[in-house]
Amino acid sequence: MCGIVAYVGHREAYPIIIKGLKRLEYRGYDSAGIALMNGDLNVYKKKGKVADLEQYLEGQKLNSTIGIGHTRWATHGEPSDRNAHPHYSENKNLAIIHNGIIENYASLKQDLENRGHVFHSDTDSEVFIHFIEDIQQNAKCSLEEAVRLALSKVVGAYAIVIISRDNNNQLIAARKGSPLVIGVGKDEFFLASDATPIIEYTNEVVYVNDLEIAIIRDNKLTIKTIENTDNTPYIQKLDLELEAIEKGGYDHFMLKEIFEQPKSIKDAMRGRINSENNHLVLGGLRDYMNRMLSTNRIVIIACGTSWHAGLVAEYIFEELARVNVEVEYASEFRYRNPVINEGDVIIAISQSGETADTLAAIELAKSKGAIIFGVCNVVGSSIPRATHAGAYLHAGPEIGVASTKAFTAQVTVLTMMALSLAQKKGTITESKFHELLVDLEQIPTKVEQILAQSEKIKYISQEFKDAKNFLYLGRGVNFPVALEGALKLKEISYIHAEGYPAAEMKHGPIALIDEEMPVVVVATKDNSYEKIVSNIQEVRARKGKVIAIVTEGETHIQKMSDFVIEIPATHDLLVPLLAVIPLQLLSYYIAIYRGCNVDQPRNLAKSVTVE
Ligand code: G6P
Repeated sequence: MCGIVAYVGHREAYPIIIKGLKRLEYRGYDSAGIALMNGDLNVYKKKGKVADLEQYLEGQKLNSTIGIGHTRWATHGEPSDRNAHPHYSENKNLAIIHNGIIENYASLKQDLENRGHVFHSDTDSEVFIHFIEDIQQNAKCSLEEAVRLALSKVVGAYAIVIISRDNNNQLIAARKGSPLVIGVGKDEFFLASDATPIIEYTNEVVYVNDLEIAIIRDNKLTIKTIENTDNTPYIQKLDLELEAIEKGGYDHFMLKEIFEQPKSIKDAMRGRINSENNHLVLGGLRDYMNRMLSTNRIVIIACGTSWHAGLVAEYIFEELARVNVEVEYASEFRYRNPVINEGDVIIAISQSGETADTLAAIELAKSKGAIIFGVCNVVGSSIPRATHAGAYLHAGPEIGVASTKAFTAQVTVLTMMALSLAQKKGTITESKFHELLVDLEQIPTKVEQILAQSEKIKYISQEFKDAKNFLYLGRGVNFPVALEGALKLKEISYIHAEGYPAAEMKHGPIALIDEEMPVVVVATKDNSYEKIVSNIQEVRARKGKVIAIVTEGETHIQKMSDFVIEIPATHDLLVPLLAVIPLQLLSYYIAIYRGCNVDQPRNLAKSVTVE
C-alpha cells in the first residue's frame, strides 16, 4: 500500500523517480507526487496515476540530483491533489513521503493546531512532518535527532523518506512495519518500497529493519537504531533480473504471470524434489522439522489468495500427514484471543511478505510460544524475517494485483511440505510418496497444455462478459479453487461472484440460479465425481449455464454442460494446481472484454501494509 521512491546522487532524479513510481504502482494508484530541489524545495502532485503526474509536469524544469516520490493508496483522506504526497512541513523546509498509518495523528494534530500549525491535507503523514519540524525547532536539534525523537512518540506503521531544503545532499529515512530498501550505487543511493525501482541501477541493497533510521548524507549511508546506536549497513546482492519485472511482450502483467506458471511451479520445485531418487528436501525447514513432526496441530494464517492456498493445503496436510490443520484469516485470528499452545506450528502464507494482518498474527502466535514457518515470495520481506523457518516460493516478482502464479507456487510449496512431513511421520507409503513426486514434476507440462487452450477460454469469456453474477462450485480440495476463481473474477471484472462447496449449493445459492446465471463447476474425475454430476444436474434443471472444468477425455459431463474446459489427469490432491489455471484465464478475458484495467483494479492494492 503506497509506493515510495527516492534518489540522491549525481544523476537527474526526476526520471529515476517517475520510472520507479511506475514500477511500484501496483501498491497504490490513486494519486502521485514528487519533491525536487530545483531552485527550491518544490512539491508537485496530482490525483490519478503516475502517468497523469508525468503529463502534468511535461515541459517543466525539473533538474535536481535529489528527490522523493510517492504513489498512493488512500487511507486518511480521499484521493485528491491535496492529499497526495509528498507533504510539506509548516515552514516548507521539509517534505515527507510516507507509507503506513500514524495511529495517534489526531492528538498530535490537535496539539500542533493549538500552537498555530495550519494543515493543507487530511492525511496523517502531513501531521508527521509538521511534528518533526516542530521538534527540530523547539529542541534546536539536527533533523536526524528530530526524526529520532518524533519516531519515539508516534504510534503506528511507517516507511518514510524526508528531504530538507537546507541540504541537497541528504535524505533521512526510517521504517517500522512498512518495507524500505536502499540501493547502494557508486556515489548514489536509491530508496524504495521494494527492489523493483532499484534493480536497473544496482544489485547491491540494504534492507532497512524495523525501528532503524537511515541517514544518507554526502554520499555516505549510516544506519542507526531509534535508540541512537550505530548499526553497520548489511549489503546484500539482489537476485532479480530486470526482465522479470517487465511485461515482456504481454499486454498485462497478469497475463504474463498466468503464462509464466509452468516455469514458476518448476522454480518452486527446483533443487527440492527429484522423483528418480525419491528426494524431497526443503532446506529452510530442516532445522525446525522436528517441531512439525511432534505437533498435533498446524494453524495456517493468511489473507486473500494466500488464504485460499492455505485451504488447499489443509486438505493435503490432513490427507497425507494426518495432522489437524486449521486455516485462519490473519485479521480474524489476531483479534480473537486464539488458543495457541506451545507445541503448535503456525504456517504463515504471504506472497508479498508484508501483509500487516499476517505479520501481526505471527507476532501474536510467537508471543505464545508457537513455532512459525513462512511461505513467502518476496525475498527479504518482513514476514520471512519474522518467522523461525520457511520456504520461499521462488516464483519471481508478481506485479499484477490479482495474484496468479503466487497461488500455484504456494500450493506447490505447501504440498512439498506436507509430503515431507508425511514421509517422516510414515503416514504414507514409499510408493505413494514416489507417485506424488512424479505427478508433481509433471504439473508444469500439464499447465502448458491448459494454457494452450487460451483461445477457447477467451471465446467462452466473451459469451459471459455481460453476466451480473457468477457461481463457482467445487468439492473437497477443489472447493478452495472455486473460492479463488470467484475472487479473481470479482477483483478484476467487478462481477459479483461466489465460490461454494458444491454440496452446499442446495442450502442457499440454488435460489439464485436461473437462465442468467453462469455456474463454473470444477468437475474432475475424482472420488466426488458422481456427486458433482448430480450438482450439475441440479443447476441444469434450473436452467443455469454450466461451464465445467473436466478431466481430459471425459464425455459424460460434456453432454450436460454448455461449455467444458479439459485439464489433464493428475493425482486428486494436485488438481487445484491445474483447475485454477482456466479460472484465472476466464477472469482475465472477461475483464478485458469489459474494458477493465486488470493490472490495477479499482480500490485494490497488491501489498496490504495497513490493517
Ligand atoms: C491483497 C492482494 C491479494 C493477496 C492478499 C494477501 O489483497 O490484492 O492478491 O492475495 O493481499 O497478500 P499476501 O502478499 O500476504 O499474499
